[in-house]
Amino acid sequence: MAGISAFSAVAKRLEGKVALITGAASGIGEYTAKIFTQNGAKVMIADIQDDSGQEICKELGPLVASYIHCNVTNEAHVKNAVDSTVAQYGKLDIMFNNAGIAACYPKPILDNTQSEFEDVIKVNLVGPFLGIKHAARVMIPAQKGSIITRASTCSTIGGAAKHGVVGLTRNTSVELGKYGIRVNCVSPHAVATSMTKTILNLDDDNIAKVYSNLKGTCCKKEDIANAALFLASDESKYVSGHNLFVDGGFTIMNSGFCMFE
Ligand SMILES: NC(=O)c1ccc[n+]([C@@H]2O[C@H](COP(=O)([O-])OP(=O)(O)OC[C@H]3O[C@@H](n4cnc5c(N)ncnc54)[C@H](O)[C@@H]3O)[C@@H](O)[C@H]2O)c1
Repeated sequence: MAGISAFSAVAKRLEGKVALITGAASGIGEYTAKIFTQNGAKVMIADIQDDSGQEICKELGPLVASYIHCNVTNEAHVKNAVDSTVAQYGKLDIMFNNAGIAACYPKPILDNTQSEFEDVIKVNLVGPFLGIKHAARVMIPAQKGSIITRASTCSTIGGAAKHGVVGLTRNTSVELGKYGIRVNCVSPHAVATSMTKTILNLDDDNIAKVYSNLKGTCCKKEDIANAALFLASDESKYVSGHNLFVDGGFTIMNSGFCMFE
């Protein structure tokens, strides 16, 4: 019996916590919302895909999930999403800046327009800036909170916006540490979602073709969601300013120095 109750305590790793997840109307964010609610959290899904966001809330159950329209590039929307979460659930423990878009790929810089570049920066970097700012606004009085932003393997091997996410994470983890607020980011390898299907033509059937340093496996939504779960939970209570790679060692591999096959 003792074993079973210990297991339940571990199984519900976010019991009593409230999370706001941007970009959770599809892909990795949707899966993370599922994992968070399974672990006892109440979740506010913030996205621009209203029908899909509301559908997911129905599936998760109205007692544990709500939807709010929020374009993460619009400060009033982000402020409203944070305030609505607090109004509905009484507090905000976890802010997950997950919403993101991909740059037109592959595109040489000479063909890349300023507005295309700015569009990506706005969603992938200004969005997290606004998310961190407004989450901090309500977390500072509570003197606690966990803020997570979705970066990417591109945060180390290319990708201006995702590099910026790491800088923003480090900068704000130092500033907000004095209030007991942790700030981290998660950097996934390629995962089959609508984003990778659109730009890389990768779906569940052919994602295994993407190079993996770890043989016989590939990166799945649950791997990314579980990394976020760890950073959201108290198990990571002394982890801040960290960029958690979920890439099977891909980004530390140097193909120019291959001693082993
Ligand atoms: N799929 C991958 O291989 C991969 C790899 C590394 C990083 N990422 C990152 O993971 C995150 C999630 O991507 P995904 O693969 O699940 O893609 P996805 O397209 O399935 O999901 C992205 C979600 O973000 C929402 N969104 C886009 N712009 C928004 C805006 N302005 N305001 C609010 N919501 C907005 C979309 O509506 C969608 O629901 C992104 O930040 C992406 O850069 C994905």
